[in-house]
Amino acid sequence: PLVKDLFGLAELEERIRSHFGLKQVIIVPGDSDVSPHTKKELGRAGASVLRKLVGEDETIAVTGGSTMAEVAYHLTPATPMKGCWFVPARGGLGESVELQANTIASTMAKKAGGRYRLLHVPDHLGEEAYQSLMQDSHIAEIIAFIRGARIVVHGIGEAMVMARRRKVDPETTESLRRDGALAEAFGYYFDRDGNILHKMPTIGLRIEDIHSMDHVIGIAGGKSKGESIASVLKHGHEDVLVTDEAAAWEVVNRL
Ligand code: BG6
Repeated sequence: PLVKDLFGLAELEERIRSHFGLKQVIIVPGDSDVSPHTKKELGRAGASVLRKLVGEDETIAVTGGSTMAEVAYHLTPATPMKGCWFVPARGGLGESVELQANTIASTMAKKAGGRYRLLHVPDHLGEEAYQSLMQDSHIAEIIAFIRGARIVVHGIGEAMVMARRRKVDPETTESLRRDGALAEAFGYYFDRDGNILHKMPTIGLRIEDIHSMDHVIGIAGGKSKGESIASVLKHGHEDVLVTDEAAAWEVVNRL
């Protein structure tokens, strides 16, 4: 708390918390865009929030991304987590293996001493393939399991960065750009006002599942993500935000 007061971070946390009606905001000093140390601290803070929030035998849904990879890295064995299940929030979203939600879920489970279940579905499913996959009883069972999660921990990205990273086709990318896509989180794209623009055809948590969770924890930092974080906060279903100073100022400057 002393260090935070020094930087005025406690005040910044409270401004964001009260403006968006969040339960908790945690800000680490620095800018993850330029400092790998800050990104690590973001991961450490995220891991500590998660450790405090999980109860026994809980299912925790996680997304992919480099920030979530840092969170996973910083998890340590904690007694309540032993009976917990870590699951990917959604199916593959075109990320490289290290950044995929499946990989993050299994790393978290190993680090925390919990268990994991994975969802193996290909990306870029056509409507027909999607429908027939959903008919498969094994897939249906794991999806029901994932939808039973009460906690979701997720990254937030800039819309165009994520579209590129996921190799979204040029027409979709163009229509996202035209519609003013700013942010991306759990496979959904959001505009400046927090409205959902586009849903990737992947399998897993739907936005309505996320809306009804007990704890939605967003973890993202870096000056470049400030606007995207603000748009996801405007969507209005976050409970906890873990971010860094540079992103937090971008958010506050938009209030
Ligand atoms: C992806 C998540 O894997 O990571 C996205 O599915 C998120 O929802 C993104 O926006 C963030 O990635 P990073 O590497 O910036 O933490």
